[in-house]
Amino acid sequence: SFQKDEEPHDYLFKIVLVGDSGVGKSNLLWRFTRNEFHLDSKSTIGVEFATKTFRLEDGKVVKAQIWDTAGQERYKAITAAYYRGAFGALLVYDITKKVSLDNIPRWLRELREHVDNQMVIMLVGNKCDLRHLRQVETEQGKQLAEEEGMLFVETSALDSTNVEEAFGQLIHEIY
Ligand code: GTP
Ligand code: MG
Repeated sequence: SFQKDEEPHDYLFKIVLVGDSGVGKSNLLWRFTRNEFHLDSKSTIGVEFATKTFRLEDGKVVKAQIWDTAGQERYKAITAAYYRGAFGALLVYDITKKVSLDNIPRWLRELREHVDNQMVIMLVGNKCDLRHLRQVETEQGKQLAEEEGMLFVETSALDSTNVEEAFGQLIHEIY
C-alpha cells in the first residue's frame, strides 16, 4: 500500500526512466507519483525526480526515488551520474512508434555499461490506449524482453493502465 512520503523508510530504491524522446517517460512518472497527465508536455530539461513510498506485505517501507531525463542525444553528457546507484530501470518505448522499439537495444547497452548487472530492468510499451495507431504488437515487446531477461508490461499514462503495476512489480523484483 502507498504511504505518506514523509514517513521513515527501511529502503531507498533509485529507479531510472530511459527511452526515446516522446515515449511518455515523464507522464508515466507524473501519473504514478501525482496521478496527473499532461497532453502537451514539453521535453524534459536536465534531470527531474519524484518519490513514492510503499509499505510491503512484510511491513517494510520502501521509498522509490524515480529519476527522469530527456531521451535526446544532446543530453548524453549527464548519463553517468544519472545511472549511478540505480537498482532498477523502466526502459520505455511507444507502441505507436516502431523506431522507439528499434532503439531499445541501444538504450539497453547504455544501461548495462553504466550499472552492474544486478539491476532489474522492465521493458514498458507505453501509449497502449492508442490501439488504432499501434505499430508494435504486444508479442514483439514480450519477445525482446524474454531474449534480454527483462520484465515486460504495456501501459498507458493517459488512462492509467498498468502504471502502478509496472512500478510496483519492479520494486518487488528489486526487493
Ligand atoms: P522526453 O522528455 O523528451 O524524453 O519525452 P518523454 O518520454 O518524457 O515524453 P512525455 O511524457 O513528455 O510525453 C510525450 C507526449 O506523449 C505528450 O504529448 C504526452 O501527452 C503523450 N503521452 C505520454 N504518455 C501517453 C500515453 O500513455 N497515451 C497517449 N495517448 N499519449 C501519451
Ligand atoms: Mg520527459
